[in-house]
Amino acid sequence: MARTFHATLSPGLEPLLLAELRGLGARKATAEHGLVRFRATWQTIAPIVHRTRLATRVRMDVGEVRATDPRTLATRVARLPFAEWLDDRHLLRVRATCSSSRLWHSGLVADTVAGAVREACGAARATVDTPDEQTIELLVRLHDDTAALRLDLGGRLDRRGWRVDTGRAPLRENLAAALLAAAGWTPDLPLLDPMCGSGTLLIEAARQGAGLPPRLPRTLPLDTLLPLLRDPEHPAPPEPSSGTSAGTHALPDAPLVLGSDREARALDAARANARAAGVLDRVQLQLADATAVVSPPDTPPGLVLLNPPWGERLRSEPSLAAFCNTFAERFPGWTLAVLTPRDMAVPDALAARPVRARLRAGDIPLVLRAG
Ligand SMILES: C[S@@+](CC[C@H](N)C(=O)[O-])C[C@H]1O[C@@H](n2cnc3c(N)ncnc32)[C@H](O)[C@@H]1O
Repeated sequence: MARTFHATLSPGLEPLLLAELRGLGARKATAEHGLVRFRATWQTIAPIVHRTRLATRVRMDVGEVRATDPRTLATRVARLPFAEWLDDRHLLRVRATCSSSRLWHSGLVADTVAGAVREACGAARATVDTPDEQTIELLVRLHDDTAALRLDLGGRLDRRGWRVDTGRAPLRENLAAALLAAAGWTPDLPLLDPMCGSGTLLIEAARQGAGLPPRLPRTLPLDTLLPLLRDPEHPAPPEPSSGTSAGTHALPDAPLVLGSDREARALDAARANARAAGVLDRVQLQLADATAVVSPPDTPPGLVLLNPPWGERLRSEPSLAAFCNTFAERFPGWTLAVLTPRDMAVPDALAARPVRARLRAGDIPLVLRAG
């Protein structure tokens, strides 16, 4: 039976997520602010959750109930089909938000829903110190006296499991995947990141180019939901591809992925992360100032993707302007893409390039120019 699911992503990137999910088999997908709503069955949702590079979370619609008092809320929630997926082996973390409703206390709503779900299927409420990976999150959005309940199937999908060193100002991994897609990078193209920091863009690209799944193997909430375990018609989801552990793999040929940074500390972080991600042999790293990168690598033309530091310092930082000028003169056939805060003055050589995406990282509005 098909059900409705929601995949979330930073607002502004919905068209990319829409295209990705359709490619992974999502049906009737439509974009809204910060999310894509789609239909899928139990068989088709498993590969979507395992393979999405762009979604931050994927949640399943459980149902909606109207209630203006705790008792009605409990009675109606207990009638939802939780027992189809959950039993007394599961621990729930309930998160509630309330707006424009007579039930306004989110703590009371969360307590009431947790009690009702326990009554319906036996799933207990996680304690505050239960580790995230042992819980399934139930999101309750109460608006206009109607509670929408959504069960989280994948946890934080942007966490790939390979980040052993955060470095300074790392990009979120699914944002890095979105930037690569928005800049037009495909796994057959070389990639150069001359301000690579802890290597997020490089590692996303290297794993993609090598045909590896986005995340290192881990159990997702989806894998512990009952129908996938007990129904022979719904076998456990296949591993998205072989060679998912770190180390050396027999992988298809991947294109060149090159990074440099002027800080040795950043390169150490990139190296440690690439090793943990199983792609150290696929990423070339070099200690260099971006202004010293004066010619393209000896490869077919590809993409140069820059995520420079965003502080005030950049306004007076000559290296971005210098690199853009060098790029214009010396990188024929290559594409340059740069991510900056939306309100930041950028060098003319960059301002002339088309805007490919507007997005946010936390509270900071950003823009990706590429061309
Ligand atoms: C925002 S961080 C990049 C983060 C990276 N995308 C990640 O996810 O880890 C910016 C990086 O640019 C580097 N950087 C700044 N100016 C540079 C320059 N002129 N040449 C080379 N690297 C530079 C800094 O050392 C820093 O590691």
